[in-house]
Amino acid sequence: MKAYGKSIGRRYEEKEDITIDDDFLNDYSKILQSKAYRRLAYKTQVICLPDNPHVRTRLSHTNEVVVFSIDIAKQLGLNENLCMAIAAGHDIGHTPYGHVGERILSKLSGKPFKHNINSVVVAQHVERKGEGMNLTYETHDGILNHSRGDGKLSKTVDKPEEYDVVMNGDKIAYIFSDLNDALRYGHLDESKIPECALKLGKNQRERVRNCLKSLVSESKEKGVVEFSEGPEFKNFSELKDFMYNEVYYKINTSLQEKTLENLYDYFSTSEDFSGIDPVISVSLLTDAEANFFGQLLLKSRKPSAEQIKHFGIFEIQYAIGSGLVGKHVEVNTDATQVAVKIIREHGRLEYPKVSILPNPDYVKYVITMYETAKKAIKNYRKLKNLESDRKLLVPY
Ligand SMILES: [Fe+2]
Repeated sequence: MKAYGKSIGRRYEEKEDITIDDDFLNDYSKILQSKAYRRLAYKTQVICLPDNPHVRTRLSHTNEVVVFSIDIAKQLGLNENLCMAIAAGHDIGHTPYGHVGERILSKLSGKPFKHNINSVVVAQHVERKGEGMNLTYETHDGILNHSRGDGKLSKTVDKPEEYDVVMNGDKIAYIFSDLNDALRYGHLDESKIPECALKLGKNQRERVRNCLKSLVSESKEKGVVEFSEGPEFKNFSELKDFMYNEVYYKINTSLQEKTLENLYDYFSTSEDFSGIDPVISVSLLTDAEANFFGQLLLKSRKPSAEQIKHFGIFEIQYAIGSGLVGKHVEVNTDATQVAVKIIREHGRLEYPKVSILPNPDYVKYVITMYETAKKAIKNYRKLKNLESDRKLLVPY
């Protein structure tokens, strides 16, 4: 199997003094130093704000995906650094409360919300006070292509094999870790562990190891990264269905749903956020911020600047020199205009060839967001003088 070679480039000329002589390792380093990466420690993997520190957060899940991806890439002779960068950034666009947030935001807005697209939005512009991390094209594209919604493992078409390394590493990481945490947290009794999981190994580590081994040997045989055959895959696939039907869909998330509904309602009706899509405002919060904000909303419809100024998302506002309450528009405008931009930019290059991304409804939705926030975007651009001093290197 041939490792992916040099990056086709970054969107903008790299202005930093880079000491790492590898584009993808440099991306990995940038992501690890980002606020979005640190915020993952306060986001749900499968259990919301666990009081048991052994339970995975979105950050510990991400780290598991990184190491499984390195493992697979090393054995197949693929580009480990590209895999590390994609894996480290793949979930930075997640909503508060994990997939519950994604589902509720889609339901409340009537439009699909995709965390993988949002990960690129966060990486490209929300990070670094709105300037973005300026990652390589391949890292962005790999992040966009890591998700298969309900867990399907179909191959990406005409893409670097490294994308499928992370996609598979992600699935193997979350299915077994989530099973492990569901048992730890009492969402599942030991006696209810299905046969398919027991056949894969006596504990989480053995099950992971056997699936990774099977993936690697199938991929070596086929000459492409794939995990779709053999007894290990059959058991894995059965376990995946079991996890969706017996664990994910059965965990009671009514409290989180209520909080998100209150937040959505607040962002929809507050005059501070007038004209701004509430989906964007809610999606940027961590679990901790959503909980805290939710509590405040139960007491008062209009939290004061003093009460919310430590929120991470409002750092973006500090960056552009505006105040807090009453001037939220820039925070939201940033994400809104970025979403539109990335969809449009990537759309020109790759999307027509890929059936799963993006959902055409989502594109329409983002474009609508753009239209509704047009005025605010104009102000934002003026304020930030966006991109005026940057040379476009890669046409995407
Ligand atoms: Fe993930």
